[in-house]
Amino acid sequence: MRIGVPKEVAEGERRVALVPDVVKQLTARELEVTVEAGAGEGASYPDAEYGDAEGEIGDPWGADVVLKVAAPTDDEVGRLRQGQVVIGFLQPLTNPDLARRLASAGVTSFAVEAIPRITRAQSMDALSSQANLGGYMSVLIAARDSGNLFPMMTTAAGTIAPAKVLVLGAGVAGLQAIATAKRLGGVVTGFDVRSVVKEQVESLGGRFLEVDAVKDAEGEGGYARPLTEEENERLRGELAQAAVRQDVIISTAAIPGRPAPLLVTADAVRGMKPGSVIVDLAAETGGNCELTRAGETVVENGVQVIGPVNLPSEMAQDASALYAKNLSNLLDLLLDDEGGLKIDFEDEIVAGSCLTSDGEIVNERAREAAG
Ligand code: NAI
Repeated sequence: MRIGVPKEVAEGERRVALVPDVVKQLTARELEVTVEAGAGEGASYPDAEYGDAEGEIGDPWGADVVLKVAAPTDDEVGRLRQGQVVIGFLQPLTNPDLARRLASAGVTSFAVEAIPRITRAQSMDALSSQANLGGYMSVLIAARDSGNLFPMMTTAAGTIAPAKVLVLGAGVAGLQAIATAKRLGGVVTGFDVRSVVKEQVESLGGRFLEVDAVKDAEGEGGYARPLTEEENERLRGELAQAAVRQDVIISTAAIPGRPAPLLVTADAVRGMKPGSVIVDLAAETGGNCELTRAGETVVENGVQVIGPVNLPSEMAQDASALYAKNLSNLLDLLLDDEGGLKIDFEDEIVAGSCLTSDGEIVNERAREAAG
């Protein structure tokens, strides 16, 4: 059984699907690993370290299982052949073309985004491992770009009040943002439409923002349900009032497969103090703030609205290490004791994350998205 690790080609993608430590664990189990030359460079893993881990440097595309970070490009899909397995962020709900191409190439593919959010799958949950880093990084960006210090600071020249930080969306990224802002000394408020997270926000030392517009909007599978237009309208009004008091807003609200909910209007931004900062982690799916532009910083009335893309890639070394561990745990489910492929569709995690098999799109929601 051979595993292949290509060099990522997506713009700005510095992560790599396997890191030398994980390659070493796989080769110790008699699995062969072929890594493309330079694949780990962007994440500070030189080819020599893969060699030391008994990996081979060469063409990864002939392997039985190809491990990717970003969704394969058309060229990359063209290099896959029938019967091969590919695993990565395959965008099952938002990239129906890719699902169709993988199906018609006869490739068995697994989308890490579709791994069920169940306890047994936590060690494979790449959405969580990467969102956690994104949440951390968003606060560092805010702290760097804000005109305010995060901690309270008493100096001979006077006392500086701590920054007020509001985190919108308290999923994996939001909770890490709350914890990080708190560690830096900010006064942190968290908000989510799922009321169960109130306790989690408070356990991290944050205050939970109670609103009248929505009491609880937990939907299927523990995710938030989309709000009605009326709920949205009222919520945006209440958030605009809360925004006035903040130095920093980190927004992370998302609903899988849908555009990001709009929470902060342009008027709300204009109501904030000059020097305040919004870091919108939902930039790639349209943004939680009306003024967000993905990959850009927009300045309105002295308020910076920052729309970062692919933050985990900015911490490529650790992001890759966590992702590689996620993949090797998922691989364990796909291999038998002799290291051969054994794809057991009776397993909830295997079945849930499988995007294409036997020429078909097998993931139900991806099939609906592909029409
Ligand atoms: P996500 O990245 O899809 O969304 C981020 C947050 O935005 C969520 O907390 C969501 O409730 C919130 N949100 C959606 N619409 C909103 C709105 N209009 N206003 C404010 N907030 C809004 O979420 P993530 O981090 O992927 O987590 C999703 C679910 O999966 C959560 O229930 C989480 O607890 C669960 N989970 C379970 C795991 C497990 O192993 N059991 C592991 C990781 C997550």
